[in-house]
Amino acid sequence: MYDLIVLGGGPAGYLAAERAGHAGLKVLLIEKRALGGVCLNEGCIPSKALLHSAKVLDYAKHGAQYGVKAEGVSLDHKAVVARKNKVVKTLVSGVTALMKANRVQVAEGVGVITGKHTVAVNGTEHEGKYLLICTGSEPFLPPIPGVKEGLERGIALTNREILDLPELPRDLVVIGGGVIGLEMASYFNSAGSRVTVIEMLPRIAGATDSEISSILQKNYEEKGVTFQLNAKVTKITDTEVFYERGGESYSVPADKTLISVGRKPSTSGIGLEAAGVYCERGAIVTDKTGQTNIAGIYAAGDVNGKSMLAHTAYREAEVAVNNILGKKDAMRYNAIPSVIYTNPEAAAVGETEESAREKGLEIETVTQQMMYSGRYVAENLTGDGICKLIIAKKSRALLGVHLLGNYASEIIYGAGVMIETELRVQDVKELVFPHPTVCEIIKVCLGNKRM
Ligand code: NAI
Repeated sequence: MYDLIVLGGGPAGYLAAERAGHAGLKVLLIEKRALGGVCLNEGCIPSKALLHSAKVLDYAKHGAQYGVKAEGVSLDHKAVVARKNKVVKTLVSGVTALMKANRVQVAEGVGVITGKHTVAVNGTEHEGKYLLICTGSEPFLPPIPGVKEGLERGIALTNREILDLPELPRDLVVIGGGVIGLEMASYFNSAGSRVTVIEMLPRIAGATDSEISSILQKNYEEKGVTFQLNAKVTKITDTEVFYERGGESYSVPADKTLISVGRKPSTSGIGLEAAGVYCERGAIVTDKTGQTNIAGIYAAGDVNGKSMLAHTAYREAEVAVNNILGKKDAMRYNAIPSVIYTNPEAAAVGETEESAREKGLEIETVTQQMMYSGRYVAENLTGDGICKLIIAKKSRALLGVHLLGNYASEIIYGAGVMIETELRVQDVKELVFPHPTVCEIIKVCLGNKRM
C-alpha cells in the first residue's frame, strides 16, 4: 500500500514524487517511456540545446560585426544532436538520482488506473491512498491527407522525431506557426535548411502580443524563413506540401514536414473510466487544489489542458502534493510567464492588450524600444526589440509585460513577480534595477512617460 501513486514521470510527476517522498510519504512513480517526460527528453530541454548551438553559430557568422574574425564557420548537425543527447542524459540521470534520494519507488511501464485507489503496471496491481495523474500531452495530429502515412514513413515529424534527425532537411515545411513551429523553424533556418512556415491564422505566435509577433515574423523573413499565413494545408506528400489560401491552391517543396498544430492532453487508455474521473474536451477537470471530481485523485500538468507549460506543471504538482499533505495551497494562473526561444527571444506574462480589452479592462499601454537599454545596444547588431507594458487605468497596477529581445526569457520572471505581487506603476518606479542590464527597459518604459 502506497501513500501516493503518481502516473507519469514528466515535470509534474517527478516533482510531485520528489516532494511527497521528501515529506515522508511512500510513493510509487510509474513512467512508460523515460523519466523527465516530454520536457526533458523531447521538448523544452533538447530544443534549447539545439537552439543554443544555432545561437553560437549565428554569433560566429556575424563575428566580424563585433570585431571578431571567425573564418570557415559551419554547423555540424550530427555533433549538435550528439551534444543535445548528452544534455538530456545528464538531466534525466539527475531526475533518477532525485527519485532515489527521496526514496521514490519507480516502475517502468504503462500504468492503468483500475479503481479509485488502484493502478496496474506490468501485470501487478498497486494500491494507493492518493492518486496523482500526470500523463501529460501528445501532439495533435490533424486529419490532413498524407499526415498519417508521412509519420509512418518518417517524412512527417512531430516534436519528438525532429529533434533526432540524422541529416538536415533541404526543405523543411512547418505546419503551425506556434511555439514549437517557430523554435524549430529558428534552429533549422540557422542550420541551413530552407524553411517555410504554414499557419492558418493571419499571424504567427498565437496569443503573443500582435506587435511582437509581427516584428518576430519580419526578423525571420529577413533571415530567410518564408511564412504562408491564412493558409489551409490540404495534403502532404513525400516531396511537397499543398495548401490553399483565398480559394487558390499552392504547393511548396518539402523533404520533411513538422506537424506542430498544438497538443492534446493524454487521457485515453489510462483507465480514467475505472475511477470515474471526469474530463471535458479530452482534459481532466481539476479544482484549484488540483483535485479531480473524485476525492483523493488529483491531476497536474498538461493533462488538465489548462496551461500546457512545464513550469505550470511544476507548480500544479506542488499545489496537489501540498493539499495531499494537508497544507492549504491553491493554483493561480494570472502570472504564468511564457517564452518563445527564438533569436531574438520573445517573452510575456499577464494580460496582452488584446486579452485585457476582451475582458473589458480599462488599460493603458506603454511601449519602448529595447535600444533604450545600454546593454542591449552594446550587445545587439539590430535594434528592433521592444518592451510593452499593460497598465490598469484606474488602479495603476501592472497587468502585463511583453518583451522581444535577448535575455527576455530570463527577465520575464521578474515581471511575473511584479504582477503576482500586484505592484503598481509607482512601486516599480521605486525599485532599483541593476545597470547596465536589458531588464532596465521595464523601468525606462515607466520613467520616460508621465505615469
Ligand atoms: P501552439 O498552440 O503553440 O501553436 C499551434 C499553431 O498551429 C497555432 O498558431 C495554430 O493557429 C496553428 N494551426 C493549427 N492547426 C493548423 C493547421 N491545420 N494548419 C496550419 N496551422 C495550424 O502549439 P505547438 O507549437 O504545437 O506547441 C504545443 C504546446 O507546447 C503549446 O502548449 C506550447 O505552449 C508548448 N511548448 C512550449 C514551449 C515553450 O514554452 N517555449 C516550447 C514548445 C512547446
